[in-house]
Amino acid sequence: MSTKFIDLQGKTALVTGANVGIGYEIAHKLAKSGAAVYLLVRDPVKGGAARTRLMDATGNKNIHVRELDLACLTSVREFTSAWDSSVPIDILVNNAGMVTSKYLKTGDGHEITFQVNALAPNILTLGLLPVLADRTHIVNVSSCAQYDATAADLDPNDPNHHTLLGKLYKDGEGFPLSRTMWLYNRSKAVQLMLGRELQRRLSASSIYGPKKIVVHGCEPGFVASTIWDERPNTQDDATVKLRATVKKVVGVLGSVPEQGAVTPYFLATSERAKVVYNFGYWDRKVKRVPSQLVLNDELCAAFWNACTSDKDSEVLA
Ligand SMILES: NC(=O)c1ccc[n+]([C@@H]2O[C@H](COP(=O)([O-])OP(=O)(O)OC[C@H]3O[C@@H](n4cnc5c(N)ncnc54)[C@H](OP(=O)(O)O)[C@@H]3O)[C@@H](O)[C@H]2O)c1
Repeated sequence: MSTKFIDLQGKTALVTGANVGIGYEIAHKLAKSGAAVYLLVRDPVKGGAARTRLMDATGNKNIHVRELDLACLTSVREFTSAWDSSVPIDILVNNAGMVTSKYLKTGDGHEITFQVNALAPNILTLGLLPVLADRTHIVNVSSCAQYDATAADLDPNDPNHHTLLGKLYKDGEGFPLSRTMWLYNRSKAVQLMLGRELQRRLSASSIYGPKKIVVHGCEPGFVASTIWDERPNTQDDATVKLRATVKKVVGVLGSVPEQGAVTPYFLATSERAKVVYNFGYWDRKVKRVPSQLVLNDELCAAFWNACTSDKDSEVLA
């Protein structure tokens, strides 16, 4: 896939997880296009190294690093409240994502995959709404793994699925790759549901409707990146071998992270690429039908209510 570069001089773009992998390459394309780019990273040292590489590679000196840990909602809220309100945001790419091989709860009480991949990016987006420019593009880097989440995996009354997980595992206990993927699949489905519900609420809002903010979700493609490096925290030999095999397969069949950045960049600049003003799920620059669960209005609304406090949502009231 090729990238058609758009002139983004004067625009401001934020990318989460921009120090490595697909996020780094999205930031690279945005920087090459002339935007002011903010790298939102949990490790400022890694972020600083990425900034230097990006400045050297693109000649764009308007690149900044900000600390943001999606596994900590205080960090997310501190970031959004510290944002300089005189700097409108034109592009927000929620790219950061993870998998885990143990049952971890964040300090906020959420299962970590669920919080980092789905819940916290939505809180981040809501916190930034007041500083989004007209026709801002919000891109949620999701995954085709969303198709593998079933209705039984998605209970808005127990959005983290703590009841089941708590029965099966102690806090911090390792689990097999199948559980890793189960958590990932459901987090990516919820990420899309929250994006779709956000679009609905934005369009219905008397304040934000006229701003024509657009929310998209996408599958970036099968990419050889560090996300596949997560080590199993289990003594189960079969899982260790399976993970090693997955890593090898990804190395052979996966594309380079630059290719993974093509669709998010396309969507981030898609006003000029004639993308309709509405939520869409995209796979490699083609609009696709997401899982039927993501298209379920009631489920999307129920997950929205489960994942946002009244305070977080009040900006859209
Ligand atoms: N690779 C694929 O084949 C593939 C396929 C479908 C979808 N995706 C999606 O594409 C996105 C990018 O993944 P990738 O493949 O580029 O993986 P990656 O190379 O592992 O990059 C993930 C990024 O997310 C950051 N991150 C992880 N936990 C975080 C947290 N708590 N707070 C803030 N940032 C955090 C990582 O930061 P650190 O460097 O500090 O860990 C890193 O910058 C993810 O959403 C992933 O689900 C990837």
